[in-house]
Amino acid sequence: MSLTLISSPLQGFTDYRFRNAFNKHFGGIDYFYAPYIRLSGTQEIKASYKRDILPENNAALTVIPQVISKDADDLLLVAEFVQQMGYRELNWNLGCPYPMVSKKGMGAGLIKDKEKIVKILELVSAKSDIELSIKMRLGNESPEEGEQLLPLLDEFPIKHIIIHPRLGTQQYKGHVNLTAFERCLQLSKHPIIYNGDINSVATYRKLQGRFPDMQTWVLGRGIISDPFLPSMIKSNSLEYPTNANEIFSKFHDTLMHENSLALSGDKHLLLKMAAYWEYFALLFTNAHKCHKKIKKAQSLRAYETTVNEIIRGEQIVGMQD
Ligand SMILES: Cc1cc2nc3c(=O)[nH]c(=O)nc-3n(C[C@H](O)[C@H](O)[C@H](O)COP(=O)(O)O)c2cc1C
Repeated sequence: MSLTLISSPLQGFTDYRFRNAFNKHFGGIDYFYAPYIRLSGTQEIKASYKRDILPENNAALTVIPQVISKDADDLLLVAEFVQQMGYRELNWNLGCPYPMVSKKGMGAGLIKDKEKIVKILELVSAKSDIELSIKMRLGNESPEEGEQLLPLLDEFPIKHIIIHPRLGTQQYKGHVNLTAFERCLQLSKHPIIYNGDINSVATYRKLQGRFPDMQTWVLGRGIISDPFLPSMIKSNSLEYPTNANEIFSKFHDTLMHENSLALSGDKHLLLKMAAYWEYFALLFTNAHKCHKKIKKAQSLRAYETTVNEIIRGEQIVGMQD
């Protein structure tokens, strides 16, 4: 059985610099969904979104753009924009849980508005030949929202539907609801793909045991907190490479170097790199202490010293279940 692993987008983290550095040093991901493009009132696509999906910035990767919107014209505009860049697929985000987004009826906040979703899909499929995929939550406030929506999506040519089985209102808290996810599998004729909390080989194995027919999985935070994970899942191994610390160090250097070329000033670079350690720290022994030390670093020099101490002094163990 062939296994496909997809990287789920994390705005602010899985930009093209991360994706390229990840791919160079770790691999194991078949394709990456890019963080969403959002049009804010204007019909213009911001330069930063464009940069992130420019083919020359993603030459070694397979990337698929994503859009967040509650408006067919916006979707069509982004579809045309990405098609001009050579993309054939666009992913529609119906999962973003942040109140600033969901209260405006976008992301997870749109799931309950199934008539609107159908209307948008009618317009988009009539006017564009872009291949659409969807990424969604179970619902925003209740799993019934998604359960009512899924059968209506059967009418449309959708490539697949990725489901993160939490509610929008849960944001990232609490458990994923595997029973509700199982119900979703019965409610759609489209391929349904699982996303949520795959942070270790052990968790992956448990999920694979529960959904043995599933051949495609989507990993989000897991590839940042353990960039070795996709390759380890693919090789069905619980063992890190003997030179894991060295590999991580080289990856970190690449990521930092690429960001230093793009960001102006030490402060921006420090903020950007330190943010990654909310996740990177989880790879090491004494994760909590490591993260605290990074947060204390007030200069780039202090940051680099701390990173070196962690990489030299701590063992790579990954997230323990
Ligand atoms: C900081 C952050 C930013 C995210 N940005 C996006 C995004 O742009 N598009 C999207 O579809 N999901 C986004 N997500 C959700 C993740 O892609 C993923 O669906 C979610 O974290 C569950 O999967 P995981 O447990 O494997 O991380 C984001 C999550 C986080 C924590």
